[in-house]
Amino acid sequence: MTDQPVYKRYTVTSALPYANGPIHIGHLAGVYVPADIYVRFLRMNGEDVVFIGGSDEHGVPITIKALQQGVSPQDIVDKYHGIIKKSFEDFGISFDIYSRTSNKVHHETASEFFRKMYDAGQFIEKVSQQYYDEATGHFLADRYITGTCPHCGNERAYGDQCENCGTSINATDLINPKSVLSGNPPVLRETKHWFLPLDQYEPWLREWILEGHKDDWKSNVYGQCKSWIDQGLQPRAVTRDLDWGVKVPVEGAAGKVLYVWFDAPIGYISATKELTPDWEKYWKDKETKLVHFIGKDNIVFHCIIFPSMLKGEGTYILPENVPANEFLNLEGDKISTSRNWAVWLHEYLEDFPGKQDVLRYVLTANAPEAKDNDFTWKDFQTRNNSELVAILGNFVNRTIVLTEKFFLGRVPEQGALTELDRAAFEEMALIPGRIADSIHHYRFREALAEMMNLARLGNKYLTENEPWKLFKSDPARVATILNLSLQICAQLSIVGEPFLPFTAAKIRTMLNLPQFSWADATLLNWLRAGDPINTPELLFDKIEYPAIEAQVQRLLNTKEANAAVQSKSPVKPGKEAIQYDDFSRMDIRAGTILEAERVPKTDKLMKLKIDTGLDQRTVVSGIAHFFSPAEVIGKQVCILVNLAPRKLKGIDSQGMILMAENPDGTLLFVTPAEGTLNGADVK
Ligand code: MF3
Ligand code: ZN
Repeated sequence: MTDQPVYKRYTVTSALPYANGPIHIGHLAGVYVPADIYVRFLRMNGEDVVFIGGSDEHGVPITIKALQQGVSPQDIVDKYHGIIKKSFEDFGISFDIYSRTSNKVHHETASEFFRKMYDAGQFIEKVSQQYYDEATGHFLADRYITGTCPHCGNERAYGDQCENCGTSINATDLINPKSVLSGNPPVLRETKHWFLPLDQYEPWLREWILEGHKDDWKSNVYGQCKSWIDQGLQPRAVTRDLDWGVKVPVEGAAGKVLYVWFDAPIGYISATKELTPDWEKYWKDKETKLVHFIGKDNIVFHCIIFPSMLKGEGTYILPENVPANEFLNLEGDKISTSRNWAVWLHEYLEDFPGKQDVLRYVLTANAPEAKDNDFTWKDFQTRNNSELVAILGNFVNRTIVLTEKFFLGRVPEQGALTELDRAAFEEMALIPGRIADSIHHYRFREALAEMMNLARLGNKYLTENEPWKLFKSDPARVATILNLSLQICAQLSIVGEPFLPFTAAKIRTMLNLPQFSWADATLLNWLRAGDPINTPELLFDKIEYPAIEAQVQRLLNTKEANAAVQSKSPVKPGKEAIQYDDFSRMDIRAGTILEAERVPKTDKLMKLKIDTGLDQRTVVSGIAHFFSPAEVIGKQVCILVNLAPRKLKGIDSQGMILMAENPDGTLLFVTPAEGTLNGADVK
């Protein structure tokens, strides 16, 4: 703690989840559990802290969902705001306020923020070409447009981002763009927008982040910022042609709203305003430490764009740290809402009622702090059974049961201490400091491991001293052993509170203890001889194989259902009409594959020698995923022979084989009927 600058207070924010679906373990692991641990720890230290959360209720995914379900966007956000808020409460995420961006305070705050920057001439006004759907009369912002990603070929990329390769995209760079509204190809139309000139902030961002936060920001965060800045920052549009969002508060901006990523982070400020009339000290006083907890897909917005807005506006403080996490995968696959590949929090609680802390524990122990990590049900079971049950639960339970049995539920006398006792006390004295240090550095896995070391210490102490064997011969020694064990339980209730708040409360109840402050964690004698304790309550119980098996089965079913949907997915929409002439320019012939071999160092390409009736020629074809060379030799195919030759992997490819592609992406040959001679004209 000594190397921490002293702050008067803390403002801790956690990313505002989009209110277009429930939340899952990835949200909890990446953002809310670490933020909650941090905040609970600060509060125990007596710090003045506000913990801000809320729903992000604007943006195109919400209006699209409303459209699909035939309800209003407000209906959608009302529904999910309620579900999300309840999940957070259920899991003990201890927000001081959980607000939402569709409320009035937020609209006013975001609007004023924009207006202030606008009046100071901090935006660039620019007319540009945007996609427009002529059939429905809408500009197609962000996700209203889909097409093929120019970077990775994913056919379901959006107008703002490709979820397959993670790049952010300019809608006009998409290949085969299509309107989500009508399915038609869009046209370009002029429209006016306001841009935040990020290029102008670049020198300042370099100094503030690349020089100023080189050592204290996590390397994944720093690295992403550096790569954004080094690529050169461009002006970013902060308005959109949409009717759901915060209206752009200037003349001549009818039908325009603030870009969701402009208004949402201002939501942190609006929520603080809603929480307390004294909100300004949490946002404008240099002695306040502002920390944003987010997932890695939010880094650019919280480290570059929002800070530039705060800097531009001019009266706000900047984040001191942005401890973003990487992603949590589920059973080896990326968590995905649309594929239902997730463990939803509300469903988890139906299947594992009362086991909030088990999930908090597993997600912290396995948090994707430095790299993406995987959640598996097997690991969940193992961590519950061999860590929570076998170590923490077992120790506390044995201690309390033995105290009941031997001392009728009263804390026994602490007699003379042995070497072992002293060693245990010495170790205990060190643990709170180690945990504090890890938490201050946002290393929550490490902090949790230290907390568990205390439980391990207790377990070992009890096992080594075997009080159950000594009671007849040496009751005074047993009293000392159990007194010390009970003190360890008391310490666990203190240092366990940030991580496992439900469990810590149960231990306090059993021991009749109040909620101590963090400073009290080193007292070492919280319980006095004669203090009554309560009947034991099991902290954790074993999770048996069938419960895990059921979860794994549910995921397998999801996988199957997804595959079925994929194979039933509709055929691609038709293309524009062409003239007969366009077609007749193609010279397609029947030909036979004579030779075939894979092209080395590629996994898709095969080099073929084909008898076209005209000649024998080489064609490189992308079929190696689906066929082996042996099975294609001798096949008769259709080949486009007058396609200009192209070099592929250094090989001259003279023509192209016609293939049929199923909706699931599998390729099949278009084979002429029996009796067709090589060289026959296909027309
Ligand atoms: N809704 C965004 C997401 O889920 C996060 C918004 S964070 C905020 O990725 F700062 F903009 F609010
Ligand atoms: Zn892509």
